[in-house]
Amino acid sequence: MEDTLHIIFIWIHILGLVLFLGPQFFLAFAWVPTSRGITDMPIRIKAMRTLTRRFLWIGGLGLVLLIVAGGYLIGDWRKYYNIPSDTSFFHYYFGSIFVAKMVVLLVMLVLLSLHTFRTGPRLIDAMEAQATGSKTVTDADVRSLRMQSMFLSISVLVLTLVIMVGGVMLNTTTFSFKS
Ligand code: HEM
Repeated sequence: MEDTLHIIFIWIHILGLVLFLGPQFFLAFAWVPTSRGITDMPIRIKAMRTLTRRFLWIGGLGLVLLIVAGGYLIGDWRKYYNIPSDTSFFHYYFGSIFVAKMVVLLVMLVLLSLHTFRTGPRLIDAMEAQATGSKTVTDADVRSLRMQSMFLSISVLVLTLVIMVGGVMLNTTTFSFKS
């Protein structure tokens, strides 16, 4: 039973990772170059809004799955690996790797929130205002927001890959259970 639950939660953890990371690669390497070729701005902006809203739901679900399954895995680690309750969490590398992974996760979540709720919407609004002429938005304004948005999204992608390394290190027990 213990093994079955471990397998199920690792599977949910990896499914969450697929949903969170997959669309990031798709947006960066498929959508961004494609969108540059769409010269009809209202259509480009509409597609951008739809795609980023979908990413919010798919990636958000991925993050929830990662956190729920990760919560189970860390809550169960002593029982699963037969670690006595008087052994400190930091006795093995496992504890330190886990804490490092959570710190990087927090930094990634801050950058992700900035991108999702501030820079991303501001960029789309600026592009729309420029296209419709409803507000004076210069090319420099749009370029600056685009650079900020790119910096944030690339940082989130790289940090997610770093967090993955932490997860794989935890799972490599010949390494993580060294003291
Ligand atoms: C973006 C967020 C995260 C990513 C990319 C990530 C990635 C991974 C990966 C790739 C693994 C190895 C899975 C395998 O066995 O094949 C893993 C394992 C693990 N993750 Fe995460 N993870 C994330 C968030 C979390 C969170 C929030 C927690 C806890 C609250 C967590 C706890 C764990 C634990 C305890 C393991 C080791 C399981 C074991 O080997 O017994 N992870 N993670």
